[in-house]
Amino acid sequence: MIILNGKEVSRKIKNEIKEKIQKENLSPLLVVIRVGDDPASETYVKSKNKSCNEVGIKFKEIHLKKEEKEENIINMIKLLNNDPLVSGILVQLPLPSNLDTDKIINTILPSKDVDGLTNTNKCSLLNNNPIIIPCTPKGILYLLKEYQIPIKGKNIVIVGRSKLVGRPLIDLLLNENATVTICHSHTENIKEHTINADILISAVGKKNIIKSDMIKANAVVIDVGINKENGKIYGDVEESVYDKVSYITPVPGGIGPMTVAMLLQNTIQCYMINKK
Ligand code: GUN
Repeated sequence: MIILNGKEVSRKIKNEIKEKIQKENLSPLLVVIRVGDDPASETYVKSKNKSCNEVGIKFKEIHLKKEEKEENIINMIKLLNNDPLVSGILVQLPLPSNLDTDKIINTILPSKDVDGLTNTNKCSLLNNNPIIIPCTPKGILYLLKEYQIPIKGKNIVIVGRSKLVGRPLIDLLLNENATVTICHSHTENIKEHTINADILISAVGKKNIIKSDMIKANAVVIDVGINKENGKIYGDVEESVYDKVSYITPVPGGIGPMTVAMLLQNTIQCYMINKK
């Protein structure tokens, strides 16, 4: 069994970005909008801030109270869209439920949409002509390629259909000519699908949901789950799965750091697009 070391690979990517910024004298700025006090969001934003500092991307967080009016958030995004110093805009999700997430996300200029979540960027991925690719799916593909794991023609089963991970992964992996199956909370007999997976990707957010008997021997397992319990972080995959796989991403140290590295990459990409 080989550990897919996202932490190590992300370090390499960060060094490349840092070098590029220094060598080409770039001045990228990422602005993150966080609404309300979701504790997980606060942790994620801190980690994004730290990584930006490490590589030389300027970082600004706009923290708004959960009662903030939708109109104000939209106007704020419009100002950032028009500010030439701003390279990328990220609205941390989830937003409080009274806000229209789609409307807010789609206010972001597609060329500043570092998350690749605007309709324009989703559509370009769907059409196999991607511009900005969502960070976690992009990080998963990067890691598979880094370890030279074949994708073309393989059965890839995704568990979880979120807008941030599961759904964009379908398009991204189809574009790589994989055979893609997606399972979710209404799928009958998930095991019937997962057992055929050459590559299984779990993005559910539930500890131990993926068990050893759901996995084909020597499969590749990508664990996107981040589940906190008593101050410790667990993935979606049960520990016994490790004995059965050929490759697996650990939690922590697998996909998490890859997501952040791809955010930095996307910020530089947006900077370059907007500089033109
Ligand atoms: N919440 C959890 N992960 C993410 C992410 O990658 N982007 C945004 N915008 N919100 C998130």
